[in-house]
Amino acid sequence: MSRRPIFAANWKMNKTTSEAKTYCAQFGNHVIDPTIADVVICPPFPSLHAVRLALPTAIGVGAQTVANQLSGAYTGEIAIGMIADAGCTHVIVGHSERRALYHETPALLAEKLERVINEGLTAIFCVGETLSDRENGQTQAVLLTQLQGSLKPILAVLSDRWQQLVVAYEPVWAIGTGKVATVDQAQEAHDFIRSTLKGLLGPIAAKGIRIQYGGSVKPDNVKELMAQPDIDGALVGGASLDPESFYEIIKNGVTQ
Ligand code: PGA
Repeated sequence: MSRRPIFAANWKMNKTTSEAKTYCAQFGNHVIDPTIADVVICPPFPSLHAVRLALPTAIGVGAQTVANQLSGAYTGEIAIGMIADAGCTHVIVGHSERRALYHETPALLAEKLERVINEGLTAIFCVGETLSDRENGQTQAVLLTQLQGSLKPILAVLSDRWQQLVVAYEPVWAIGTGKVATVDQAQEAHDFIRSTLKGLLGPIAAKGIRIQYGGSVKPDNVKELMAQPDIDGALVGGASLDPESFYEIIKNGVTQ
């Protein structure tokens, strides 16, 4: 089964709405064939709607997190219905910064994933080990805990809607550090994630679910990553903040 690559820009807490519009005007000049790759831009919440209006519809727009509750007295939270109403197509769930800084647990992330899937949007579910996990030989154990902890509670939801799930493997030690995982380290982790997905969701879903790599992806390292059999795209932080560099990543990533 061939998997259409997916490239997502995670802006994190960067860019005002006017900066976002300038970015989109530049990025929108590039023609990206939606049959060749999915492209998603994930700006901060206040810019979601403006970014949706400013980009061609073939480009997806994603939120960087979502509330686990549907509505009500949750000051500061943003519900999935609001995200969908802003025109979003995707939501990042479980980024390592959310796990580490805001104490998001696998059980909480299961609830968030369920909200995204039930709303008909695609979840970009992030997993990844820290440097000490890797040094202690715990990489696979950590990935297993993260995947099982968030996917097992929602297997019934995912069983016929796994197309709405994208997994992003992001080794925490490679995020924003300039230290990219070697292609062998990345492929090994992706292969492990795919075999874990097979155990949870069966062989057809495991073959079809896209697994992105994330962590210091740049225009000059994306090609070798994308050449690996189980790497189906990239979740890009720092290098996505410049529209030309994000476009270069997509261009280099799809032409192997
Ligand atoms: P980076 O971030 O590309 O700046 O390493 C990736 C991410 O955190 O999604």
